[in-house]
Amino acid sequence: MTRRPTEKPAARRQKTPNSHAAEGDLNRTPQREEWGRRNIGPEARAILEEDATYFLRQALSTPCLNVLSRCEGIYIQDLQGRRYMDFHGNSVHQVGFGNPRVLRAVKAQLDDLSFCTRRYTNVPAIALAKKLAGITPGDLGKSLFCPSGAAAMGMAIRLARAATGRFKTISMWGAFHGASLDTASVGGQRMFRGDIGPLLPGTEHVPPPDPYRCLWGCGGQCDLRCARVVEYVLEQEGDVAAVIAEPVRSTACIPPPDYWRTVREACDRHGALLIFDEIPQGLGRTGRMFACEHFGVVPDILVLGKGLGGGVLPMAAMVARPALDVMADRALGHYTHEKNPVCCRAALATIQCLEEDGLVERSRTLGERALARMRQMMSRHPLIGDVRGLGLLLAIELVRDRGTQEPASAEAERVMYRALEKGLSFKVTEGNILSLIPPLTITWEKLDHALDIIEECIAAVERR
Ligand SMILES: Cc1ncc(COP(=O)(O)O)c(C=O)c1O
Repeated sequence: MTRRPTEKPAARRQKTPNSHAAEGDLNRTPQREEWGRRNIGPEARAILEEDATYFLRQALSTPCLNVLSRCEGIYIQDLQGRRYMDFHGNSVHQVGFGNPRVLRAVKAQLDDLSFCTRRYTNVPAIALAKKLAGITPGDLGKSLFCPSGAAAMGMAIRLARAATGRFKTISMWGAFHGASLDTASVGGQRMFRGDIGPLLPGTEHVPPPDPYRCLWGCGGQCDLRCARVVEYVLEQEGDVAAVIAEPVRSTACIPPPDYWRTVREACDRHGALLIFDEIPQGLGRTGRMFACEHFGVVPDILVLGKGLGGGVLPMAAMVARPALDVMADRALGHYTHEKNPVCCRAALATIQCLEEDGLVERSRTLGERALARMRQMMSRHPLIGDVRGLGLLLAIELVRDRGTQEPASAEAERVMYRALEKGLSFKVTEGNILSLIPPLTITWEKLDHALDIIEECIAAVERR
């Protein structure tokens, strides 16, 4: 969507990431209730009520949507036997659900060594750390493992503080890095930061790069002001420990090509580390093993999670440059499951599947095909304001008016629930973005069918 420089931009209704639902769709809307009335039978309803009785409620999950009984390949199946292609999967399902190789490796490891007490090590843990050193870019090469992405981000923040002797960070408004207090502080979503009292001090934020809704009004004539503002803050503060960001957000907002190189150079000039959170997008999602490879930029610390456990087990990792091995006399992670051999075997099997089955390349080629099809859809449907993607990280942004870019949030929710009724599950991010994150094992036929469903649903919503 480039504009000629002389054209005056339309008056845009600026969307801020916080002005809408954040990381996912909300669970207490009239549309959710209506979908439940139509689709949830008595048995599932009773289970959902029990779930709501015994789990604390929270905005993006409990009360839950439905009850699952199986997951396999690209599908999840509910208690009533309905199957849905899962284009959400919490971003854990690069190799598909219940991947036989991952399950075999986990079962074998359970029979062999099922836990590793601290002070001891084990062969799968070392093999995984070695493998990560081999596949991550640049000289990234020393790891620590833990059970969740938020915990791994927490370790990265601690390490950056220790290595630089500084405590301030710069991260992006609208970003999500986990729900713990430290990660909610570097995150930029009110859903996680609001109404919980003081956050971590020194966590500063800048607007994210967003070519579709550029805050600096570049309108297709990008002059990287979004990157220069990062350097401006680095310079003003003079003592920032790290810039922390996802190289590509799950909204599939793809920064301008030189964005990360410019930020990397600014970090180097100002003595700040660069931490990339690739928890959802690493391991092939974007058509490269790691999203940062698209930009030719190597961070000082790379954080992985989600799909690292093969969609079966919780597993996350921080991979740092060897020069950052500076905390030998202090605790850094100290997680009970930091060298869990079963989780490490799951991760090794996952990486093996990605490599042997060519899933990274597949993500790239299928993603390109899907994006081309999404562009055609956009030419037919005014409700679509933007389509974007990198590999099989795909997004369709719905707007009421392409000129003003007014978010079509109610419409996005309607599209999502209609698609569910047709057997396709995905989430809506920031209120109006359809986030499409299929397993990398999907066939083109299934992916094309999923796009058929989305197009039908968009057309139906447009007709209303
Ligand atoms: C970008 C990003 N960072 C961190 C996290 C946190 O990971 P976890 O839920 O494993 O703590 C998430 C989870 O959604 C994420 O998307």
